[in-house]
Amino acid sequence: MAKITIVGTGYVGSVSGACLADFGNQVICVDNNAEKIEALKNGIIPIYEPGLDVVVQRNMSCGRLSFTIDLASAIMQSNVVFIAVGTPPAEDGSADLVHVESASRQIGSLIAAYTVIVNKSTVPIGTGRKVEGWVKEELVKRGTNIEFDVVSNPEFLREGSAVYDFTHPDRVVIGSSSERALNVMKEVYRSLYLNETPYIETSLESAEMIKYASNAFLAVKITFINEIANLCEKTGANVKDVARAMGKDARIGSKFLHPGPGYGGSCFPKDTRALATIGREHNEFQNIVEKTIEVNEYQKIRAAKNIEKVLGALKNKKIAILGLAFKPNTDDMRESPSITICEYLAGCGAVLRLYDPAAMKEAQWRLASIKNSIYFAANEYDAIQGAHALVIATEWNQFRNLDLGRVKELLVEPYFFDLRNIYKPEEAESAGLHYTGIGK
Ligand code: UDX
Ligand code: UDX
Repeated sequence: MAKITIVGTGYVGSVSGACLADFGNQVICVDNNAEKIEALKNGIIPIYEPGLDVVVQRNMSCGRLSFTIDLASAIMQSNVVFIAVGTPPAEDGSADLVHVESASRQIGSLIAAYTVIVNKSTVPIGTGRKVEGWVKEELVKRGTNIEFDVVSNPEFLREGSAVYDFTHPDRVVIGSSSERALNVMKEVYRSLYLNETPYIETSLESAEMIKYASNAFLAVKITFINEIANLCEKTGANVKDVARAMGKDARIGSKFLHPGPGYGGSCFPKDTRALATIGREHNEFQNIVEKTIEVNEYQKIRAAKNIEKVLGALKNKKIAILGLAFKPNTDDMRESPSITICEYLAGCGAVLRLYDPAAMKEAQWRLASIKNSIYFAANEYDAIQGAHALVIATEWNQFRNLDLGRVKELLVEPYFFDLRNIYKPEEAESAGLHYTGIGK
């Protein structure tokens, strides 16, 4: 087992810290946001991640997991330090490394014995070398040359299933050329390593590339099926059947082949833009990724324009929209298609009746610019009451079993836009609704 400090208790840091403690390591989670740390010390999780509270409480109560703002004391007790601070997109699309550099320098100014420094945050290829440089500069300032190694250990966590993804990874990727560091990392992931989880050791740069290439490929795959869906609508094909049959080919696979109003979240948009920027910097343009970014923005607007095409003039039309988070089981609305759709419809004069099981608080500020056009509903049926149309934008489970007869009664006009294809057209039409899906 290892003695670990996690710097940054956001989505990635808090899940990684709790799960690494669950693997039997001694873990101290550090954050420079004191309220977050206070909340976590009281077992309150500042992010919406199903199941994380149980893992945090279990490991806190048996003393393997603790939280502090005191980075110095944490580092003194650790032989592994994970950097899991935010890497938000900068103006030009590149990843902003200001937090990674600040964390690296703090670590360099504090280590007192051999330490493995692990990049968990998604960082541009080559950042591992920069972290080495920043730490070395701090050691020179101290007039000391304590040994350390930098390792890249990218995360593949999906929001809403991050705990499961961390404890049941398809693969663990470790990027380093130091045998000593690789041995320490085997200790960190001992419980996964022993139960045959695919464990890939590679170079620092390859590990950094694996993360971007994986996320970008998933974004491309989604965008591919979105464009096929658009064409299915025009050719009378049914994209559900097309995707199902494509997915039976093991080389294609059925995952991430569900058409929708475009991908959102904090990762795909950020990581595709960062990869495109890295490609331009090295004069190896990532043309498919660049096109994917462009087409994904179009897909969001296309969904809104389709609603306008069916409803006609939107002025004073009341439109119920169910689902604001970028996907189910999260309260995160970063780059959510619902933002584009709400802004477009409000811009055309529509009045929006919104409901989401977890994102209502975030929606208040994310949609502040159109707040005069919004009624924040108490539940899905309250949203539907008196509306001219119902739009499902995020496939929360509770939206999968609406009482369609009641929906028909509550709607002023029977229009139903299912942007996630969770209903069959015939079941909606038999309830008297005018159904519009994606790609069918
Ligand atoms: C982030 C990136 O968004 C993601 O792309 C990457 O894969 C992992 O890191 P996330 O955990 O969601 O994911 O970051 P965020 O939610 O922004 O949390 C970062 C945390 O680090 C915040 O709590 C912030 O207060 C903290 N932080 C930031 C520090 O403790 N020290 C710093 O110097 C900077
Ligand atoms: C993603 C990657 O899956 C994860 O490995 C990486 O570590 C972080 O980024 P996340 O962004 O949390 O995870 O969500 P994900 O479940 O991947 O969905 C991303 C977006 O794609 C969502 O907006 C979702 O609605 C959309 N999506 C996903 C589709 O439109 N169709 C699909 O078939 C799958």
